[in-house]
Amino acid sequence: MTTETTPTSLNRFSQTLTQKMDNPAAKAMLYGVGLTADDMQKPQIGIASTGYEGNTCNMHLNGLSVYVKQGIQANGLVGLIFNTIGVSDGMTNGNDGMRYSLPSRDLIADSIESVVVAQWYDGVVTVVGCDKNMPGAIMAMARINRPSIMVYGGTIRSGHYKGQKLDIVSAFEALGKKYAGTISDEDYEGVIQNAIPGAGACGGMYTANTMASSIEAMGLSLPFSSSYPATHEGKQEECKKIGAAMRVLLERNITPADIISRKSLENALTVTVALGGSTNAVLHYLAIARAAGINLTLDEIQAISDRTPLLADLKPSGKYYMEDMLAIGGVPAVMKYLYQNGLIHGDCLTVTGKTVAENLADAPDLDFDAQKIVFPLSQPIKKTGHLQVLYGNLAPTGSVAKITGKEGERFEGTAKVCEHESEVIDALSKGEILPGQVIVIRNSGPKGGPGMSEMLKPTSAIMGAGLGDKVALITDGRFSGGTHGFVVGHVTPEAFEGGPIALVKDGDLITLDAVGRQLTLHVSDDELAQRRAQWVQPAPPFTKGVLGKYIRHVKSASEGCVTDEV
Ligand code: FES
Repeated sequence: MTTETTPTSLNRFSQTLTQKMDNPAAKAMLYGVGLTADDMQKPQIGIASTGYEGNTCNMHLNGLSVYVKQGIQANGLVGLIFNTIGVSDGMTNGNDGMRYSLPSRDLIADSIESVVVAQWYDGVVTVVGCDKNMPGAIMAMARINRPSIMVYGGTIRSGHYKGQKLDIVSAFEALGKKYAGTISDEDYEGVIQNAIPGAGACGGMYTANTMASSIEAMGLSLPFSSSYPATHEGKQEECKKIGAAMRVLLERNITPADIISRKSLENALTVTVALGGSTNAVLHYLAIARAAGINLTLDEIQAISDRTPLLADLKPSGKYYMEDMLAIGGVPAVMKYLYQNGLIHGDCLTVTGKTVAENLADAPDLDFDAQKIVFPLSQPIKKTGHLQVLYGNLAPTGSVAKITGKEGERFEGTAKVCEHESEVIDALSKGEILPGQVIVIRNSGPKGGPGMSEMLKPTSAIMGAGLGDKVALITDGRFSGGTHGFVVGHVTPEAFEGGPIALVKDGDLITLDAVGRQLTLHVSDDELAQRRAQWVQPAPPFTKGVLGKYIRHVKSASEGCVTDEV
């Protein structure tokens, strides 16, 4: 049943500027930006865009914001576009730039909070596209707690070269093939020039599409928001519909606190698992929950993974791209199937003003005879979820693995320690990465990196070199949603804080056990105590600027790497 809320004045915040005598300057400035006397009576909606020209995920967002504004104005509201930042994970080139990626999530949240609260907007629409944009936007919406809707910029179309479909990961894997000598220079260039055909976020079930799909499931974007590709006409139509939806939210004073609940977080994580989403979702939902005042734990996420089968054959471990989902009914069709089978809650409120069940009443049905992207519950790709939280003497406060079953469930090997992801690329180019090794990339955590870099470059290069099923990789950093293979990230405590991962030496025996959920370093307690006695905490890699601040404030990956809590 739809929750009823008490109607009140719709411009409950902006009236402070537009209706009170003591703010003549504010009113004068609003006339200065073009508002009329009539507009002064209307609610004001901030439209936060992470649009910028330098990234395909974000290059079209300012354009979409204009459509959002048209829909807002058409519904008797004032729409005011503002910008905040984005950082492209695909263009950070390893640790140097990647250090800024995860911190950008919190900068996005902080900047949206700052503008919306400072400027007294009655509601906010976020128009976002790349990995950290979505969780940053939702964290801000949860903190501000005014009527809010997220618009996803949409997935990219796939690229093509010599009959092969391509995406961003194809470019990284081409590098591994180049190292392995299995691709010509011409084909290498061909892949690079054709992998990314235009606007949209990375096209597999990587982090952007994971967050977009699961945020739709959580109820904070309109149905199909995650399924329309960036260049599909439905994306513009979605933008134009935002005004009417926002009007409903204002009239009923429906805020993120009415939408983000333990149940809706479960819906988001269930869809993440069913679709084979990124491990980054774990980090982001821990943070989103905290922003909403809900104490979600790693063990609760594990429980959701345990009860949810992996159903979708989507990249990186599967065959299909997010652009293929729309034709089979999109995320609403998947949600409907999960709801009909008791796997998601139907009574959660959403930004349509209706419940999940009400939204899904008209959603398409999955046709298991006609499509091969989403498998039926009777024949899942994997009976339980791919997200696995591992503990053990190498990760006493947890780590996160993505186990689809294709890479096996247990790996034992000898440690090859790399203090930086670039060492993996060097070692690979020298033929020093050998079958049977567990590559340990440390000092890549939230503080030690800083910024908990993604290991897309080393993992893709390992795949490209044909070693994907012969080595494993553990790190206190993160993995891109594009990563596949036997990988365990988010190892906590991180090396910089003296976590056991700091004590590993080359040649140590390590077991990754996804069934027993243990990450074990086979070194005696006495030996570990001796190594600990000799361990010296490194100096913080930065003391000033964004990264210096980040090191001082960021919490552990097991706490979502939040930066706004003591
Ligand atoms: Fe933006 Fe991949 S770099 S989604």
